[in-house]
Amino acid sequence: MRRPVSIAPPKGKLGVLTPGMGAVATTVMAGVELVRQGHSVPVGSLTQMGTIRLGRRTEGRVPKISEFVKLAGLKDIVFGGWDIYPDSAYMAAAKAGVLDAKDLAKAQKFLKGIKPMKAAFDQNYVKNLSGTNVKKGKNKFDLAEQIRDDIRSFKKKNKLDRLVMVWCGSTEVFMKAQDVHKDLQSFEKAMKANHAAIAPSMLYAYAAIAEEVPYANGAPNLSVDVPALEEFAKAKSVPIVGKDFKTGQTLMKTVLAPAFKARMLGLDGWFSTNILGNRDGEVLDDQGSFKTKEESKLGALEYILQPKVYPELYGHFCHKVRINYYPPRGDNKEGWDNIDIFGWLGYPMQIKVDFLCRDSILAAPIVLDLVLFLDLAKRAGMRGIQEWLSFYFKSPMCAPELYPEHDLFIQLMKLKNTLRWMMGEELITHLGAEYYD
Ligand SMILES: NC(=O)c1ccc[n+]([C@@H]2O[C@H](COP(=O)([O-])OP(=O)(O)OC[C@H]3O[C@@H](n4cnc5c(N)ncnc54)[C@H](O)[C@@H]3O)[C@@H](O)[C@H]2O)c1
Repeated sequence: MRRPVSIAPPKGKLGVLTPGMGAVATTVMAGVELVRQGHSVPVGSLTQMGTIRLGRRTEGRVPKISEFVKLAGLKDIVFGGWDIYPDSAYMAAAKAGVLDAKDLAKAQKFLKGIKPMKAAFDQNYVKNLSGTNVKKGKNKFDLAEQIRDDIRSFKKKNKLDRLVMVWCGSTEVFMKAQDVHKDLQSFEKAMKANHAAIAPSMLYAYAAIAEEVPYANGAPNLSVDVPALEEFAKAKSVPIVGKDFKTGQTLMKTVLAPAFKARMLGLDGWFSTNILGNRDGEVLDDQGSFKTKEESKLGALEYILQPKVYPELYGHFCHKVRINYYPPRGDNKEGWDNIDIFGWLGYPMQIKVDFLCRDSILAAPIVLDLVLFLDLAKRAGMRGIQEWLSFYFKSPMCAPELYPEHDLFIQLMKLKNTLRWMMGEELITHLGAEYYD
């Protein structure tokens, strides 16, 4: 990736399109509106609250990230999306039950104005859902063309300067990359032939790239994570990123596992279980969708702990992940972890984590940050996979010859150094020898 020569300023309006207007998407929409109205503070958002140190520790230069790299302002954001249910964002948010009635009432007028466009959907890919707000088309290519039309109309109607798309749709069934995904020509041929390996989320990703709209994938299904779409994104100069927002349990895993490794503590086993009762939980109750999520959640430990490099410490650990759909909890998930570690002379110890979190409250600021950073990347002429945004994902996309970086602190350093690099500032290595000369 080449260093940006210049970065276009964020002038005009920025459209945010979400395939899927469920719990996560409507919580972002409502939250941005509440912040805009001055009712709330954007807690959890690095782009809104974070700062970045520049130069030596003695210089005291610590601007806000949003000022340092000139991100789009919240006031310029316009939301839209697609869903298989015709509910407005207000109705969908009320049904999702993430925000309380008092907060929803403050954003009611705004949310009622956001109506979902008809979705490109096929129940073969999300077994536990069926809805009526669905497009008809002669084949999958035709459906992608309809999504492209939607993007263009939305842009024109709202007089937008730029757009970003974030997949906030349900987790689709597990699928591995196949021959039809290997290049753009095979991919387009497969869309026209209605090939089973082309999932609806891929149609949105294809349409976004074709319209030169940056695309982020918040779910663990492949979507944009196939060679054909990576090639397409490069050719069209579009930044892409994924997969699966890193919110609750995996966030904790990617904080704790680096700590064990840093202190050379061994691991015998890590058992993670979750109960959640939102629609996402209902979708994950299907084995096909769960398998997609399970693969995404399992990867982090292997990559962080490097069993091949440290066979005595991490060569034989047992890692299990369970998700149980338990309706009474709604969006307020509970994630338990039992961690069996060992220390000096192999003596065993245990750690228990019980995270009573709120899924969409953790995911919403991630969506906002991705929107603003992807818009920045596009204005800076960056294209293809944006590995510096791995910070936000459970299963980060990276170049085929690389392994993904999962350690949250390495990810944050990578993100901030990328911003410094983009702006021609010195990178911070934390060496610090210069202070002691
Ligand atoms: N909340 C979190 O902490 C979190 C973390 C990581 C990943 N995710 C993923 O983010 C996604 C959204 O989560 P959520 O809690 O908002 O789920 P949700 O079920 O509330 O919303 C998903 C919405 O997508 C819609 N949908 C499904 N297929 C579609 C299609 N082809 N086109 C348009 N709409 C479609 C559904 O009708 C639903 O309204 C899920 O895939 C979830 O696994 C969420």
